[in-house]
Amino acid sequence: MLDKKVSQLINEQINKELYSAYLYLDFSIFYEQQGLDGFANWYMVQAQEERDHAILMLKYLQLNGEKVTLSAVEKPDKELNELIDPLKFGFEHEQYVTSLINDIYAAAYDAKDFRSMQFLDWFVKEQLEEEKSADDMIKKMELFGNDSKGLYSLDAEYAARIYTAPSLVL
Ligand code: FEO
Repeated sequence: MLDKKVSQLINEQINKELYSAYLYLDFSIFYEQQGLDGFANWYMVQAQEERDHAILMLKYLQLNGEKVTLSAVEKPDKELNELIDPLKFGFEHEQYVTSLINDIYAAAYDAKDFRSMQFLDWFVKEQLEEEKSADDMIKKMELFGNDSKGLYSLDAEYAARIYTAPSLVL
């Protein structure tokens, strides 16, 4: 049996991860409209990963006999004008998600819920990667994005991203 607060926070995080997927779908749509299919692809793959995060949490709660309650997913409301906007919002959003994962981890720690701490370890590590790749994208855009050839190369690089299933299996 899981600690009640930890279980509730993980349930809430399912919604946040689904919102992340929704947000990144919105970014993908923005880039597709700008003719940057590579950037659009990158965020489409990212949206799939976020959905995976939600499903992993859902399955973890089910494995532990907990009831899962889904709630409405918020509408993505970021105003996207410049090509760099989604990248900046994406980085900010990942920092926010890191804080949420840390809060759940802290609750698990306080409750001596070692099982959930072990489960969350994967997400702690994942957030390091998520923040790093979001930050790298901003830096590359600032360095190369103002030049059409540079932007073309970046778009080609992001077009090559392919979806891979999460390394965590439940
Ligand atoms: Fe599910 Fe981007 O963290």
